[in-house]
Amino acid sequence: MRAMADRAQRALPPIPTRGVRIIGSGSALPSRILTNEDLASVVQTSDEWIVQRTGVRTRHVCDPRKGETNTALCTEALRRALAAAHTPASELDLVICGTITQDCRCPGTACLVAGALGAGQAAGWDLGAACCGFLYSLNTAHDLIRVGTHRTIGVIGCDTVSNIVDYRNRGVCILFGDAAGAVVLRATDDTSLGCLAQVNKADGRSWRDLYIPADESWIGPDQDRSVIRPGTLQMNGREVYRFAVTTFQGLIAETLDKAGLAVEDVDMYVSHQSNARILESARERFGIPEDKLYINIDRVGNSSAGSVPLCFDELVRAGRIKPGMLVMFIAFGAGLTWSSSLWRL
Ligand code: UT7
Repeated sequence: MRAMADRAQRALPPIPTRGVRIIGSGSALPSRILTNEDLASVVQTSDEWIVQRTGVRTRHVCDPRKGETNTALCTEALRRALAAAHTPASELDLVICGTITQDCRCPGTACLVAGALGAGQAAGWDLGAACCGFLYSLNTAHDLIRVGTHRTIGVIGCDTVSNIVDYRNRGVCILFGDAAGAVVLRATDDTSLGCLAQVNKADGRSWRDLYIPADESWIGPDQDRSVIRPGTLQMNGREVYRFAVTTFQGLIAETLDKAGLAVEDVDMYVSHQSNARILESARERFGIPEDKLYINIDRVGNSSAGSVPLCFDELVRAGRIKPGMLVMFIAFGAGLTWSSSLWRL
């Protein structure tokens, strides 16, 4: 008791506060390209319908015979991010991997990647939040550095959605592709750098609008059992569309409000590529110029957790994102989940 009283008398050290920098990014796409014509040869659809309703023209899918797996994509994306950061893997003290399509349930992908890259005793865990997997991970990693728990963190977002898509389900298979992206975060003395505002939310009541039934007991009474394959992604497209349009707009407004900034203050909006129409509606609603809201869904489809870090890496490599810029990351998806992160880079 006396020891506790003595401790209470002493002033506790202040919580350390540091800035956070994104010091490198990388991404990886599998080699096989699936066109709308390819899909039209297996389900009743057309290039015209897919382009008009989703904006997707092609998507990349893994070829396991070439060693293209979720783990391989994650490893390559983080390897490239470390190279861009001129940082050896041995400096990582944590790897977080946002994914719902890991090759192996145990151990986590983050540990496999850390081991493959030579990250020593870096901690590692996977974070399952579907399309929000990368942003939930980025926000967690950021805060762990801010308070001084970790110093250098590899954050990966990857989904090999082709493993969970039923290619007989035309309402789903047209939208998705496989991709991985990664960033390396590092502590800096410049406390003005890092996340200025973030939002992490979920509403689990609507989980059945976008989910993977583990077995037949997960199929709802109003769903058609004869067409649902357990283990594959089921989507109530219209409901998810409605949710995404509303959430996207609310997320932008809430994040700007938290940071005390206006739409035009942000240099680049890096959003999850859900559907081109959803992105367009947000762009028009806020008057965001075309060159400030990146779209690559036409080439790569919707790659769930891989989407946001892939966009970021493409923008960095094209010289369109530079240090000092204000960048807003946005994502929404199964859960239902939604998340944002506004950074001064
Ligand atoms: O990242 C995860 C978040 N997911 C999303 O953001 C997805 C959000 N939702 C969507 O993107 C859209 O709902 C879809 C692209 C999935 C579907 O587009 P839609 O305009 O909402 O179509 P719908 O589901 O309302 O279906 C309209 C019609 C239906 O035919 P009937 O009932 O009107 O005769 C569908 O059977 O289009 C039919 N249809 C298709 N036709 C040709 C559905 N899929 C296809 C298809 N090709 N692939």
